[in-house]
Amino acid sequence: MLILGIETSCDDTCVAIIDDHRKILSNCRYSQIKEHQRFGGVVPEIAARNHLELLPGIFKQALLDANIASNNIDIVAATAGPGLIGGLITGFIFAKTISSCLGKTFYGINHLEGHILTPRLTHAIRFPYLALLASGGHLQIVWVRNIADYQILSSTVDDSAGESFDKVAKMLGLSYPGGPNIEKLAKLGDERRFKMPMPMCTKDELNFSFSGLKTFVRGLISKSDLALDSNDICASFQKTVCDIFEYKILQAISLIKNEKVERFALVGGVAANSYIRYRLKYVLQSNGILCTLPDIQLCTDNAAMIAWVACDRYVNGVRHDNNSQPVPRWPLHEVM
Ligand code: KG4
Ligand code: ZN
Repeated sequence: MLILGIETSCDDTCVAIIDDHRKILSNCRYSQIKEHQRFGGVVPEIAARNHLELLPGIFKQALLDANIASNNIDIVAATAGPGLIGGLITGFIFAKTISSCLGKTFYGINHLEGHILTPRLTHAIRFPYLALLASGGHLQIVWVRNIADYQILSSTVDDSAGESFDKVAKMLGLSYPGGPNIEKLAKLGDERRFKMPMPMCTKDELNFSFSGLKTFVRGLISKSDLALDSNDICASFQKTVCDIFEYKILQAISLIKNEKVERFALVGGVAANSYIRYRLKYVLQSNGILCTLPDIQLCTDNAAMIAWVACDRYVNGVRHDNNSQPVPRWPLHEVM
């Protein structure tokens, strides 16, 4: 069985084809970063127009890479939300048109579910598992019991981790997206040089907060000589984000009382950070928990994860809503 996935929720135009044996036949991604960089962030209307222009060519490329014809596709899936509505509508209509022309089943997929279930595509990880979803728009610790059975243990009360990477990068004059740029400078810095706060890391509080850390970094930058201190600021900031992750993950594990946590997965764009991957793997394995880290290109936005959710749902007989519509807001706990 072949599944076509389309992802257009933000600034990446992505088309992928996978099969139901977890093989990724093609995974095409066009990053629009260059078109948005000069505005310091993603401009929704530009993103939607670019998706519209790019999708036909990328779809053709995905068929070529997979070496299949469009009528070999069995299921068509597209991100239905959450995300920027213009882009979502563009990808959704494109995918729905293909599915109706080919007479194939259509799935409207939740983008967050795509990130959360990626470890099942890459590592065939079994349920239940604990997942830390750290992307540009979201930060959650989720107890993933089964498909469509997601218990949100923790969320952020302000910024997501990806957003704080982006904001700190901007303060340092680095381009968007900030995460990879901070990671690059952090490699050259001393992570112990600046001791930074870990907001809301107390025994009874499972939620995240990053605004205090961001304000601290802003103050530090205003007193620093960036030519000398940038690398150390990046290293200390990245270390602190990872310390916070570690603290909250261990806290969440201790709170899941009736079920044993044997597996953990790190997902979302921030999971592309090698330092965070290395440290979390070490700490989880030291606690006897298997730590799954999807390949880096499957952590940031991609369409293989969207195709996978449709496949996982189809193979496991989980219902889907034929009348789904693109929506800008669609929290994971509302996924059915
Ligand atoms: O999952 P994603 O590609 O898009 C959303 O669904 O939001 O995540 C993008 C976020 C951005 O904030 C970006 O700065 C961050 O992931 N990111 C990273 C790294 N690569 C991407 N953060 C830290 N280190 C990285 N290497
Ligand atoms: Zn994402």
